[in-house]
Amino acid sequence: MTALADIWGINEAQFWLREGLPEHKVRYDEPTGVWDVFGYPEIQQAITDPSTFSSNSQRLTPNADQRPSEGVLTQLDPPEHQKLRKLVSHAFTPKVVADLEPRITELTNELLDGMSGRTELVEDLAYPLPVIVIAELLGVPAADRTLFKQWVDSMFTTSDRFSLKERAAEQEEYLAKALEDVEQLTDYLREHIRERRAKPREDLLSKLVRAEVDGQRLTDEEVANFGLVLLVAGHITTTMLLGNTLLCLDAHPEQFARVRTDRSLTPSAIEESLRFLSPFAATARSTTRETELAGQTIGADQLVLLWLAAGNRDPRQFTDPDVFDVTRDPNPHLAFGRGIHFCVGAPLARLEGRVALNLIMDRFPDLRTDPEAPPVFMPNPNMTGIRELPLLL
Ligand code: HEM
Repeated sequence: MTALADIWGINEAQFWLREGLPEHKVRYDEPTGVWDVFGYPEIQQAITDPSTFSSNSQRLTPNADQRPSEGVLTQLDPPEHQKLRKLVSHAFTPKVVADLEPRITELTNELLDGMSGRTELVEDLAYPLPVIVIAELLGVPAADRTLFKQWVDSMFTTSDRFSLKERAAEQEEYLAKALEDVEQLTDYLREHIRERRAKPREDLLSKLVRAEVDGQRLTDEEVANFGLVLLVAGHITTTMLLGNTLLCLDAHPEQFARVRTDRSLTPSAIEESLRFLSPFAATARSTTRETELAGQTIGADQLVLLWLAAGNRDPRQFTDPDVFDVTRDPNPHLAFGRGIHFCVGAPLARLEGRVALNLIMDRFPDLRTDPEAPPVFMPNPNMTGIRELPLLL
């Protein structure tokens, strides 16, 4: 049987979507000079041991000294990570997220109003919805989203595996361009932050500027870099989540029909989509010392990729891992990470997913994929997600 990943044209590097996990769950990839970790318990071991597997992976990659690190939560280790995460949690509380439900509903309805006959889900809903939500939350004009899209898109254009060895010149160029985009986006945020210091509003940027833990505040640079993490992490992943969920349901019509009639299944359909096609397929770590994982000795200062998407297909953890099952329970997938870096935006992504999926099902009882126009996936091998999803309504 042809794997769905082949039918959908997902990057071939993501072999776990086709042929299961390899015998060796931890292995060194000679051509790229990177260690790959594919198994669920092995990922769990590494991701919950930040003193050995540091989140500061950037220090091992080219141009490391040119990239920002202050306020980049995803790159920080304890104790700095804890301090920033605490500040961020003060401004990004469960109540702040829950209070967004009416606005997310209103926005989704407005976007759905514009659809009829045929639609391209990403352009018409899955991209604008999370971007408008995160922009409004931060307090930057949602109308500037074409700017973010341009910057963020070009950060993720490569379809090659990241390598510390091969294609050094080509990658150098790609990284230099990505750095330029990061700089432009950060400049844009810096300007908004200066304004908020002078004239606070009720938005997240103002809250971050004012947030205080143990008498300490964030610097403008920290707020700008954190805002950048939110803008980038907060939208393309949720875009992929919405597209992936609809595509998985479309490929499993009986389950789609079940969810349509029993909406208590919407949240578990979203969790299963996160497991089955994990948008953020890999996260990087750097070893601080020599260590052992699955019997392999990994030296100090090695770049390690934890393939969350592969761990989510590990038969040692999930029964029938290659079967999409909206009733899977429990479903302890790794799509939002685990441990101290567990996704800050998970409640928001889940809320947007639930609201959007329910409204789509309410409005379009006959929605299906277009046999003439197949879906297009992100080319980047570290991501598993829809970039274009033409639908017939
Ligand atoms: C962290 C995935 C949505 C903000 C993470 C991590 C993963 C992840 C795997 C952990 C990375 C690591 O351990 O190295 C996802 C997925 C999403 C999503 C699959 C949607 C389906 C969001 C949203 C936001 C967000 C909507 C913000 C509004 C963050 C932040 C972190 C993070 C700030 C860093 C947390 C830390 O380092 O302590 N996300 N994310 N994410 N995510 Fe998400």
